[in-house]
Amino acid sequence: MADSGDGPHAGEVTPADAGATLPQQRFASGGAGSTEATPGQPRQGFWAGWKEQFGFNTLLGTLVRNYMIPAETNSIWYILGGVLAIGIGLEFLTGILLLFSYRPDAAQAYQSTQELLASRGWSIILNFHYYTAYVIFALVMIHMMRVFISAAYGGAKKGLWLVGAGLAALVFSVSITGETLHWDERGFAVPWHVGEFLEAIGLSKAFNWAHKALLNVDFASSKLIIFYALHVVVLPALLAMLLVLHYYLIKQKHISLPFWRKPSGRETAFSEHIKGWIIYGGAIFAIVLIVSIVFTRDAGPAPQNLAISPYYGAKAGPGGLGITPTWPISWTHGMNRFVAIVFHLEPDIWGTVIGMLIMLGTLIAIPFVDRLRHEPHSWREAFNLRKRGVAFGLITLFWVTMIIGTVTNAVTPVG
Ligand code: HEM
Repeated sequence: MADSGDGPHAGEVTPADAGATLPQQRFASGGAGSTEATPGQPRQGFWAGWKEQFGFNTLLGTLVRNYMIPAETNSIWYILGGVLAIGIGLEFLTGILLLFSYRPDAAQAYQSTQELLASRGWSIILNFHYYTAYVIFALVMIHMMRVFISAAYGGAKKGLWLVGAGLAALVFSVSITGETLHWDERGFAVPWHVGEFLEAIGLSKAFNWAHKALLNVDFASSKLIIFYALHVVVLPALLAMLLVLHYYLIKQKHISLPFWRKPSGRETAFSEHIKGWIIYGGAIFAIVLIVSIVFTRDAGPAPQNLAISPYYGAKAGPGGLGITPTWPISWTHGMNRFVAIVFHLEPDIWGTVIGMLIMLGTLIAIPFVDRLRHEPHSWREAFNLRKRGVAFGLITLFWVTMIIGTVTNAVTPVG
């Protein structure tokens, strides 16, 4: 059928809907930033003019204003996923600021951290960066469990869950590389354990990475720089890419409905949801900021390869000296202790490797073993163990591994 040319058909998006400029407006508006209007048209404000120049109107229209979501998803359990993204954004921001002061050199990194923590302004930025990492870890766990209970990974949404599992692995990797950069004895433990692992699998020569060689400061520098590159470039870039994919897939595959609410059939613009992110995110990160101002930390003991360290010349490595990782990743050292005590496995770094394999493996397998063929409509369906028993078993194994590691680390840290 020929186009009658008498206006848009039902369901068609007009350029005006999408926030784009009509051809006649384009020529009449007089170029970049112009606030002039054609006769009969309202005058375009300065900001509106510039937003138009950079295509923000169309972008915001497509991604936010014209993106409709079920009204029920404006619930805290769905909003926390966005708060998590805000937290990651704040980590990027504070991380960029820290780049201006931190020195990734094994002879200077510890002193550099000490200086940051001694300065009033920098210590707030570094503390905020550090405490926010804890909040992110907690939010990943809460978000993952919300999605798991909602079984929001069936059918075409398996890939979305797998991207999420990739994000969780990246958050863990960013935490562990960040801990290294602190470069106290705790940070020093990371390249030390990587060396032990490469020796255990016979690849230490290929990677030129023997753990004892780290006692030489120049050699340690060549490894510290790898963690620096991973922490400030490689992992954030991967994280950003996966986040974009995560959001794209959520939009494409549609968000689930919170089964614990009565469906109303109402929809709201995504901008309403973003307001929730800002309110909850604002409250949570304001508290983190206050904590960062009030509770400043010390730099910890210097790494054992520096003469100023209380452990300089020690016979044991960081584990043997009772140095343990910070809480979100403390399960790694706990798993090392667990396999050494229970299975007499040496070197004990196998504990971390086994723990990682179990945790990542369970996450990857979950959407494939869950036999609930649709998203649940009630608590009863959500906890239907006949259909979801194996999936529940796997998520339990994930938590048991983390809890065994965390508790073992707390009970028997030295070794
Ligand atoms: C690490 C950073 C992550 C960020 C910033 C993030 C962000 C989000 C956001 C904003 C949503 C929309 C709804 C909601 O918030 O609940 C969402 C949904 C989803 N996320 Fe994540 N997520 C992350 C990690 C994960 C992880 C670890 C998993 C699972 C292993 C996961 C799996 C999913 C799935 C399957 C959905 C769709 C849920 C539904 O339809 O109800 N995400 N994510």
